[in-house]
Amino acid sequence: MISWDDFDADEKPVEKTPVAPAGAAQAPARTTAPSAPAMVSAAPAAAITVPAGADLANNYAGGQPNPAVIAATLKQVREEEALYDAGATPQERAAASLARLDVAPGLEELEMGAARVQVDDKRMINCRADLNQLVPFKYEWAWQKYLDGCANHWMPQEVNMSKDVSMWKSNDGQLTDDERLIVMRSLGFFSTADSLVANNLVLAVYRQITNPECRQYLLRQAFEEAIHTHAYQYCIQSLGIDEGEVFNMYREVPCVARKAAWGLKYTQNLGDPTFTTGTVEADQDLLRNLIGFYCVLEGIFFYCGFTQILSMGRRNKMTGVAEQFQYILRDESMHVNFGIDVINQIKIENPHLWSTAFQQEVIQMILEGTQLEIEYARDTMPRGVLGMNAAMMEEYLEFIANRRLAQLGLPEQFPGVKNPFPWMSEIMDLRKEKNFFETRVTEYQTGGALSW
Ligand SMILES: [Fe+2]
Ligand SMILES: [Fe+2]
Repeated sequence: MISWDDFDADEKPVEKTPVAPAGAAQAPARTTAPSAPAMVSAAPAAAITVPAGADLANNYAGGQPNPAVIAATLKQVREEEALYDAGATPQERAAASLARLDVAPGLEELEMGAARVQVDDKRMINCRADLNQLVPFKYEWAWQKYLDGCANHWMPQEVNMSKDVSMWKSNDGQLTDDERLIVMRSLGFFSTADSLVANNLVLAVYRQITNPECRQYLLRQAFEEAIHTHAYQYCIQSLGIDEGEVFNMYREVPCVARKAAWGLKYTQNLGDPTFTTGTVEADQDLLRNLIGFYCVLEGIFFYCGFTQILSMGRRNKMTGVAEQFQYILRDESMHVNFGIDVINQIKIENPHLWSTAFQQEVIQMILEGTQLEIEYARDTMPRGVLGMNAAMMEEYLEFIANRRLAQLGLPEQFPGVKNPFPWMSEIMDLRKEKNFFETRVTEYQTGGALSW
């Protein structure tokens, strides 16, 4: 059993630099570059001035690094180096640093200063209220989705993969070549698609959504995306599949590459560290990103692969992989619903963004996504397989596209299409207690079930 003592022994940091003795009469040898002391003595702290009233809350001003922030930072660094050179003890330097600590810059970017946050101060984007205060909630639905996401927690290792391993490695015809193609393509697409989604959330979306309860859900979603990537890696490793072939498929196989490329282009603007919302153009860029990722990538691009793999599980084939996908699908359907709620809330708070021209653009995005997924269906199902074929999948994807358009308040583009796979809805609504393929080896303990 591991004890804290073991942990302490394993993790103890290695001391790399000598520590100055407290109260040393002479300044200790510096560990920084040799030129640093000369620079400090040549440029005393008083030589750097920061203009009175300078805006220190914005690291970037007009897209350029803010010179006042740079000057203030340099001034502080040089004051600290001067103290170091004068032989001040660590305690004296710590005390001097705390004496200079100013809480004002942290408040300057907030519209109401240090006043307590009121519900009406909160907004989905361009909010200037304090984002470090979770409550009072404005969007109860976001908090509820965070709780629901946590209650659905699962881990890939809990799914028994032994039947899949023997089926995948056997040559007795249990799996046809067409079925093997579906497994390979699904793992190839999803193994990188979930990383694209996670990177978009963390590197692009999180900064722009200015609401703490929604950010709380985004953090939960980001972890779920990590679990999904873990699940694909776990399947690939269990089955002994060539990892390079699968993980590089989004660059090598055209029907997979085109879907990934379509999603990636909506991250480009927001991935720029100087991107900020606040103009009609920038706010619409954010909306495009949210619609591209939540409604198309997670809301359409996942559905052909999910349906194929779950259909396999229904026929008692690759039931471990199917169960992994089943849990992922449950998470993903919540991601889509959360994203659509966020998009619709932004529309309510900023109706000028939802112009007729922008609505037409969104309809086109949904149609492009549907077409790319239909191409993927045709590529992965050259013949009928598992009781389905590309034509049935096309109708299903048009049904899904209609649903996404309706959720956004836009007109359906495929009148009269029906759902050819009603069992998919049943699996999506699956409650945690029910084990659809009965392969899971352990029940996850939620926080409420823990006993000490
Ligand atoms: Fe995911
Ligand atoms: Fe997702």
